[in-house]
Amino acid sequence: MSVHKEVKRVTTHVLQEMKLRGEKISMLTAYDYSMASIVDQSGMDIILVGDSASNVMAGHETTLPITLDQMIYHAASVIRAVNRALVVVDLPFGTYQGDSKEALRSAVRIMKEAEAHAVKLEGGREIKDSVDRILSAGIPVMGHLGLTPQSIYKFGTYTVRAKGKDEAEILIEDAKILEEAGCFALILEKVPAELAAKVAKEVTIPVIGIGAGGDIDGQVLVVHDMLGITQEFSPRFLRRYHNLYEEMSGAFKNYISDVKSGDFPNEKEQY
Ligand code: KIV
Repeated sequence: MSVHKEVKRVTTHVLQEMKLRGEKISMLTAYDYSMASIVDQSGMDIILVGDSASNVMAGHETTLPITLDQMIYHAASVIRAVNRALVVVDLPFGTYQGDSKEALRSAVRIMKEAEAHAVKLEGGREIKDSVDRILSAGIPVMGHLGLTPQSIYKFGTYTVRAKGKDEAEILIEDAKILEEAGCFALILEKVPAELAAKVAKEVTIPVIGIGAGGDIDGQVLVVHDMLGITQEFSPRFLRRYHNLYEEMSGAFKNYISDVKSGDFPNEKEQY
C-alpha cells in the first residue's frame, strides 16, 4: 500500500467549478524548480510561467525578447516541481500572432517539451485564428486582455487600459469572443475594477485579475514583486507580502563579512 497521499490536481474543470461556487482562484508566477516547488506546496491553484521571466529572470526591459526555447526551459523546470497546481505557460511574443499554424506549432512544443498543462496568449479578436487552431488540438488556452505587455510599443505606456467607453466596449466584446472560442479562463491586467467586475459577470469562464480589482474570480501576481525582491516596481495594485530584498542582501552582507573575517567556516563546518 502506498503511503503517499493522492493530491487532487487543479484542472480547468476544477477552476470552472470554483467560479460556479464563488471560490476565489489564487495564481502566481514561477520560473524555476525551487520556487515552483514552494509555490505548489503552499497550495496555489495556478502557476503561471509568465513571459515576465524576460524581466525578472533575464533583466530585459520588456517581455518581447524572451524566446520560445527559453520559455520551454523555464516551463520544464517548473513542471518537474509541481504536483497539484495547473501550470499555464505564456506563448512569447512573435510565436503566435498573425500565423495560426505557427501558433499551433509553438503551443505543441510547449506541451510536448515542457509537459505544460495550458498556454496563455495576449490579445482578443486579432488572435482568434491562433486561439481556434490551438484549441482544435485539445490544448487549453487562457486569454489575456487589458494591458498586454507584448504590445507595449503600441500602447506607449504601462498605464491603466480601457478607461474610456470605446476601449471598454471592445474589451468586453473580446472577452466574449475568447469565451465563445473556448478559452478556459481570462486574465485582465490593469483595467478599472468596475469594468473587470462587469466582464466577470458577463462571461461564464473564470476571470483572474492583476490590477483589476477584487470583484472578479481570482488574482495573479508576479512572485518576485509580491515577495519584495524587485524594488523599483511598485504599482498601486501590488501588495508586498515580504521584503526579501532586504532579507537577502542582509544575509549576503553577513556572509561576505564572515568570509572576510575568517569566521566562516568554523571548526564544525569543515572536515
Ligand atoms: O507574464 C506574466 O507574468 C503575466 C502576468 C502579469 C499575468 O502575464
